[in-house]
Amino acid sequence: MSDPTDWEIPGHVTLARGEGGLPKAVVETAWSTAEIYLHGAHVTGFQKKSEPPLLFVSAASEFAPGKPIRGGVPVIFPWFGAREGSPAHGSARITAWELKETALLPNGAVELRFSLPGAEGCHVELLVTVAESLTMELAITNTSHRNFTFETCLHTYFQISRIDAISITGLEGTNYQDKVAGTTETETAAAIRIAGEVDRVYFDTTATTEIEDPGYGRMIRIAKSGSNSTVVWNPWIEKSKRMPDFGDDEYPQMVCVESGNVGKNQTTLPPGGHAVMKVEISSGPLPS
Ligand code: BG6
Repeated sequence: MSDPTDWEIPGHVTLARGEGGLPKAVVETAWSTAEIYLHGAHVTGFQKKSEPPLLFVSAASEFAPGKPIRGGVPVIFPWFGAREGSPAHGSARITAWELKETALLPNGAVELRFSLPGAEGCHVELLVTVAESLTMELAITNTSHRNFTFETCLHTYFQISRIDAISITGLEGTNYQDKVAGTTETETAAAIRIAGEVDRVYFDTTATTEIEDPGYGRMIRIAKSGSNSTVVWNPWIEKSKRMPDFGDDEYPQMVCVESGNVGKNQTTLPPGGHAVMKVEISSGPLPS
């Protein structure tokens, strides 16, 4: 195993101790800054120089081995949601990943490649590209002799001005599981507005979604490939109170718009098979 500091790039990638003493990579480009914890290969920060932070992280989050970080981009693998006797949302987000490589590209972007140790029967990598936008590519190879079925999700928490100010477009006409109501629905809204607890898994969608945030004067665009599910989540008041690692008053400042392959969109790879999910998040001023 290499020492993560081997991968420092002067002026662009520094390895530091973050919250809870956990190691993190601090990244600087001409356009943006970012932070990625090796714990979970978890992007906890991305900020363009002219904008508020893109990602929300709870002030109540734990930063400890074996515990998920509340905010940023948890990497969900190999299952999504609760599983009896096993960690919710899989083990990838509570495992220390290895930093395998960093690179400064000719266009000024910085790439960091992480690998998940101890994954049995598969090889799992996350490539993070920090530039004017934030790009994450989760690549999974089945190294076993049997079919391998799994779920994935890049469970992205966005920082927003206020939950009642934003709307989310791109999902109209898409079928979804409403995990709050326990029903199956079809999205009727061209622009989704949130005014209560929302926990929806949209299926069979590769669509780009956008979060319009007039409070910040910002538009966030989430473009993806290799992902057929989109999850929209805000815990609202009562659920926030039940989550020990999330402040009671934080729900208005965040929304999760997650790209993945979950439930009936789970992936099955034959022996030697390879799957890549790529998500590019860009942002800019709201058109006036
Ligand atoms: C969402 C799920 O993706 O993640 C929700 O759809 C869940 O049901 C939420 O509550 C947060 O999960 P966790 O395990 O990080 O508290």
